[in-house]
Formats: sequence, structure tokens, C-alpha cells
Amino acid sequence: MCGIVGYIGKNDNTLEFLINGLKSLEYRGYDSAGIAYMTDKINILKKQGKLENLDKCVNYKQKSNLGIGHTRWATHGAPSENNAHPHMQGKIALVHNGIIENYEKLKQKLIKDGYKFYSETDTEIATALIDKMYNQEKDILKALSKCQDIFEGSYAMGIICTDDPNHLYCLKKDSPLIIAKSTDGYFIASDVPAILKYTNKYYLIENNEIGKISKDNLTIYNHDLKEVKKELQTFDLDLENAMKNGYDHFMLKEINEQPFVIEDTIAPCIKDGKQSLRKEIPDLSKYEQIHIVACGSAYHTGLVGKALIEEFGEIPVSVEIASEYRYKKVFYNAKTLVIFISQSGETADTLACLRKVKEQGIDSLAIINVVGSSIAREADKTLYIKAGCEIAVATTKAYLAQSTLLSLIALNIAINKKKLDNVLVSKIFDEMKKLPSLIKDLINQDYKKIAKKIYKKEHIFFIGRGIDEAIAKEGALKLKEISYIHCESYAAGELKHGSISLIEKDTPVIAIVTDEKLASKTISNIKEVKARGAKVILIISENLNTESDYYDEKIVIPSVNPFTQPLLSIIPLQVIAYEVALLRGCDIDKPRNLAKSVTVE
Ligand code: G6P
Repeated sequence: MCGIVGYIGKNDNTLEFLINGLKSLEYRGYDSAGIAYMTDKINILKKQGKLENLDKCVNYKQKSNLGIGHTRWATHGAPSENNAHPHMQGKIALVHNGIIENYEKLKQKLIKDGYKFYSETDTEIATALIDKMYNQEKDILKALSKCQDIFEGSYAMGIICTDDPNHLYCLKKDSPLIIAKSTDGYFIASDVPAILKYTNKYYLIENNEIGKISKDNLTIYNHDLKEVKKELQTFDLDLENAMKNGYDHFMLKEINEQPFVIEDTIAPCIKDGKQSLRKEIPDLSKYEQIHIVACGSAYHTGLVGKALIEEFGEIPVSVEIASEYRYKKVFYNAKTLVIFISQSGETADTLACLRKVKEQGIDSLAIINVVGSSIAREADKTLYIKAGCEIAVATTKAYLAQSTLLSLIALNIAINKKKLDNVLVSKIFDEMKKLPSLIKDLINQDYKKIAKKIYKKEHIFFIGRGIDEAIAKEGALKLKEISYIHCESYAAGELKHGSISLIEKDTPVIAIVTDEKLASKTISNIKEVKARGAKVILIISENLNTESDYYDEKIVIPSVNPFTQPLLSIIPLQVIAYEVALLRGCDIDKPRNLAKSVTVE
């Protein structure tokens, strides 16, 4: 994944621009960082670890009008200073996001040409190849175009050259890149937050295009080096929106934004006083089967969607992990729809699956947060959630907004197929409108007592049945990814087929019970773990709540219709995960080994 930035302009504060830009891209990776900037030569500074290590070593008095920067999430080679970008070979310095897949083959040839390599990265090989081509062509644009023919894989690159101190070059294939324009120069960046402090005007650069940028001019070329005209875009969120806004962590800020996000997601879709949804929500009732393809938490929202679409829309749905779907044999028919869910819209595996599906001529629908991202642009139809900038690696508001859209999609199918009576539809619309305030009340409950009881545990289990199992899965992922406690989720009835042997005295089991049809079954399973010494934390909807002795702690959530219920059940689990990670002193917004946007396979 990694984040890249670059600046060229009249302002000589390049070092400050680069570090500020990298700070807002740290969610893309944070195991090392580096910058290269032009004075009378190219200077390179790199440090292992978080960006603050690099920041401390930068001499901000050093003036420069041109530079590139990188924050890394290791793919090839360990997180180390040697492997950190920028890499320099000959006259070329390079920052790169993506993977050059044929780098081994290229490396052998380049070694024969006399190049020596100091890192384990694919990027250093790419740098050498550009240098070699530049020496042959004596022209950087021609060299970059030649390299595009040779590189296999994905890349967004920022390039500077000792011989050309007045230009910044960039190129892109399958990794995100924008070029932004401010009053005194140009920026390149992997994502919009990197440039928002200076400008909200930017150009999108497409696959196989090359940018040549001077302090007051930008030219974008296609692969044949013909000029391409671009429209200047405006990003309409302010920097404030991308900042913490007084919260200690982005995750907490984003949890607290959920009432507004859900209001923004739902309001445009519901027609007041009518028994139908606005055309923003597509009618999928003509499809005979639906595949939902996604990764991580987005996959978990797919499970929520499946439960609702199958139960109320009566269309079979299979939810698929993108990295598996990408390579497996898939069976479609003319009435198959494939839904792609992604916060970033750039996840490499999900994007590859979209391309696979499009090759077969199958209809595709994307549910995306980042406007203008690759999946959003390539899908037949795209629905945007209205989550705004999500910075914390552990998703909360995007997850909830995705689940909300899927719930509205399921509701729409059910209404169009006349599976729901009018009284129920009115109740659902009323409760959907109340969702923001219900979510707010749930966020504001005190979960600290529960967090204190579990934060020192090594293993925690999550159980549920039906749609509650989907919630259990996301709850377990949330807690494990930010607290590093081993968490597992199970369909409640499956535990006794092996995993119950792991339950011992005081093992925490978090059980979710909101589905009336399945409640008595899940409660029997809870009693089974309780009998073996588990400490049970029960999350139960109000209508099913009774006093009993099969739990140790209880969180009662409002009971609403089945379309709205899963949007409430997840909230306590998000806040518990946050509180536990806080007690354990974890780096909540940047958990180890993870990244927000996963643009590698
Ligand atoms: C990463 C993030 C997860 C996210 C997943 C899919 O692993 O840490 O929060 O669910 O990628 O990302 P996407 O952008 O496709 O939703």
C-alpha cells in the first residue's frame, strides 16, 4: 500500500510540505519513511519506524523547490532503513506504491549491466531500470514510457532526476495517484488528505499515464507520449474533516461520527410518507443470484447483506473473500449480479475481482466510500456511502454505512417483491429515521467496566447465530486488530464441535442475541459455555431481555426491525474494542502490521 507525495513549486518549503503530506498518509503504512529533495544535488533522508523518527531528523531550514516522499508498508523486504524509499540508482530517485512483479528477472539483467543493489525491494530494481532507460534514451519521458512496457504489476511512482532539477515526474498503473495544483506549485499524492492543507484542486491520473510537472506547468501524457487534457477536480471536504477534531484517536472520532454518517446515508434514500425508497437505491429484484465480494470488514458487511437479502429478498447470496474469488472457478448465469464492497475503492484483490467479473460481461455494482477511486470508476454502477474521510485503520463508520446501504438494498428488493406488509414497511422507515439518535445513545453508554474485566485476557470468543454471527465476526476482528488479544468468532451452535474445549474458567465469551427466531437456540449455547466456566458478556435486544443467570454482564440494545437491528448491535462491540485497546496502551489508530488501504495482493 504505502503513501507517496511530491512537490515542485515556487515555494522553497518542500521539506515541510513532504512531511506534512506524509503525516496524513501514514494510515497507508508506517514501518519506515523517507524523502528525497533537490538542492544542487539529490539529498536522501530515510528512517525506520513511524514518521516521527524521520521528522526529528529533518533540517527544515534546508531550502528546496522539488522533492518526493514515502511512507512504507513493507511488501518486499523487512521494514528497515535500507528498504525504505526513496531509492536512488544512477541519476534517478524514486518513491513507489505498488509491486513490480517481474523484479527478480529484471534484477538479474540489471546486475549484468553493472547495477548494484543495496535493498531487498522491487522498487530499487525499478529505479535502476528507469536509470538504464534514461541513459539509453537521454530523455526521461521516453525512458518512463519504455519502462511501462517492461514493468509488470502495479505502481504509482514519483521520480526526480539529477540532470533535470526543474521537473517532477510521475506515472501510474493500478495504484492510486493524484496531481494537485496550488497557487504556488504542484503536488503529487496517493490520496487527497495529503494535499488538503494547501489546496483542494486536483487532477486524477489514469493507468499508463505519465505526468511531467514544472513549478508552473503540468503536462500529462499517454503511453505514446501524446498530451492528454484533464479536468481540474475539486475535493469538497475540508481539512478539519480529516483531522481528529478534539478526540484522542481517529477511531473514537469516527465512532462518534456514525450518527451523522448514517443520517447522510439514509436521508437521501427514504421518501417521506411513501412505501418505497428513492431511486438512489437500485432495485435488484430481477437478479436470480448475487455474489458479494470484499475483504476484511467490508466482507463482514457482506455477511449482514446476505442475511437480509436472502431472508427478505429471497435471492441466494454468496459472500466471497476477494483474494479467493479472484482465482477460483466462479459460476455465473445471465441473471447474476456481483456486488463489490470497499471503503477505499482501491483494494487490489477486490479490484482484480471486478475486472474478472467485467470480462465475463456480468453486471457489477460497487459500494464505495472514496469518491473517484478505481473500483468506483470501473464498476457498472456505484453507490457511495457518505462516511467521509476514514483515517483509523480499524474501520467503524465506513463499515456501518456499508451495512446500512446493504440493508436498504435488501429492503428495496423485499418491497418490490411485495414480501413485506405496509404496516411493517412504515415501521421500518420510522425506525431507520430514528437510527442516528439510537446509535448516539448506544455510543454514549459506559463500556469501561466491561473493558476492565477483559483487557488482560489472552483469548476471547464471540458467538451468535444468523445475522448475529455476522456481527460476532466483525466484533472479534475489531477487538483483535487493535488490542492484539486473540479473538475468535463462531456460529454459536458450532462451538461444541471442537472449539468448546478451549473454554476454561473465566474465558470471556461475548454473545449476541437479537434474532427472535434463534434466540432460544443461542441462549442454550450460551448456557453450554457458562457451564464450563466462561464469563459471558451478553448483548441482547430489549424484546428478548429477561433476568437470568446465564450471563455475567449484559448490554441491552433497543429492539427494532430486522433491517435496522444489525446497525445497532455492532456499536457496543466497536466501543468495547476501543476501550480495551486503550487500557492495553495500544497504538489504536495504527495497529502493528496493518494498513488502511491494501493495494497489494
Ligand atoms: C484493510 C483495512 C480493513 C478493511 C480492508 C478492506 O485490511 O484495515 O479495515 O476492511 O482492508 O478494505 P476496503 O478499502 O476494500 O474496504
